[in-house]
Amino acid sequence: MTKLAFPDGFEWGAATAAYQIEGAVREDGRGVSIWDVFCQQPGKVLTGESGDVACDHYHRYADDVALMADLGLQTYRFSIAWPRILPFGAGEPNPKGLDFYSRLVDALLERGIRPCATLYHWDLPQALQDRGGWADRDTAKRFAEYGAVVYEHLGDRVKRWITHNEAIVTVELGHRVGLLAPGIRDLRIAGRALHHVLLSHGLAVRAFRESRVGAEGEIGITHANTSFEPADERPETAAATELARDFRTRAYHGPVFGRGYPKSVLDFYAAQGCPLPIEEGDLEVIAAPTEFLGVNLYSRQRILPDPESSVGFEHAEPTLPLLDMGYEAAPHSLGDFIRWVTAEYDRPKIYVTENGVCDATPLKDGAVDDTLRLDLLRGFLKGLAEAIQDGADVRAYYVWSLLDNFEWAFGYAKRFGIVWTDYETLARIPKRSAAFYADVIRDNAVEA
Ligand code: FCB
Repeated sequence: MTKLAFPDGFEWGAATAAYQIEGAVREDGRGVSIWDVFCQQPGKVLTGESGDVACDHYHRYADDVALMADLGLQTYRFSIAWPRILPFGAGEPNPKGLDFYSRLVDALLERGIRPCATLYHWDLPQALQDRGGWADRDTAKRFAEYGAVVYEHLGDRVKRWITHNEAIVTVELGHRVGLLAPGIRDLRIAGRALHHVLLSHGLAVRAFRESRVGAEGEIGITHANTSFEPADERPETAAATELARDFRTRAYHGPVFGRGYPKSVLDFYAAQGCPLPIEEGDLEVIAAPTEFLGVNLYSRQRILPDPESSVGFEHAEPTLPLLDMGYEAAPHSLGDFIRWVTAEYDRPKIYVTENGVCDATPLKDGAVDDTLRLDLLRGFLKGLAEAIQDGADVRAYYVWSLLDNFEWAFGYAKRFGIVWTDYETLARIPKRSAAFYADVIRDNAVEA
């Protein structure tokens, strides 16, 4: 069997997020987050569920770290719940919240697993939401202060930091279409959230550089991506695909890479009567140099022009089989996007901070034969290895997710884990894809 090798030193990991796995939402002084409030509103989460218990990782973290070690993971990406650290978003830090992450980090380091901490994976303290949340410029400043607190307490041991996870999801799904917390549907607020989230990234990077540990660690941002493909050969379709990239990709990457917002995006918000709230000096703050770009990617989208739409493009009909989440099974999309982003932004250093497959294959006779996930993961990794051979500077890959967990507005029915979570007993059972992944890690290579 021929194998495609990854570069020496390539790191293999898994990713999770606080609200999706921790549970223990009312323990040890944790404050209320916008997700606690959102889940209580009828109809918001499809199954009526919440992250109250989730995978109970808050209590089982030591076993979970042992599981990671068994799989051979070299790095682990988790997120810190802001309301555990600052229950009201600002003010005095909560020592018990800090202590939880401190113990988690120690457990990882004891097993030789490199921690990678995300500051914001969508769980804003409700107290800040009550004061306007991301629509309020002040939230960006509070975010940098929160960052400074955790750098101070964990930065001696955590050397890899991510400011935001998927700002586009916060903006679009949280504030424009309201499908995720805080459930707002308002374009003006979405535009304000867009700019303030990116501003908060820049301020948090600045706080990192000013911190005692900033010099030794690395910091970056993780964006959600889709590989956009023109649905046909027409020049207008090519132009529409560029518009999709402007609104979905460049609007988030551009400011961080010092290129500002795309003109199309600025014009759109202005034409809708709500120009982005950019103040003097903001773009310099957002463009603060970072060490890496985090790439999350799950699928592709084919694009067609749509002159009727205010953004000028629409999604073409899917042509590949659909996954449970409604998007296409498109393993080529990871390598394609990595090539695109490498060319677009002059070969940034990349960590693939999420990639994975929704596959709800059930537990049968004590095992989960998730061949769909396994086959697609193999395809994604093959594309990634090829993109690296073609010159992309990718240094790590984190599979989403270590465990089946609370998939936001979809509840627990959607399963992304390479490890099965039994929500009755909270037992963890590695799936067939976990064995596959352990082999990939051991060989630092994937079947060609
Ligand atoms: C990403 C999120 C992550 C998880 C996966 C499936 O958009 O960052 O929390 O929900 O999708």
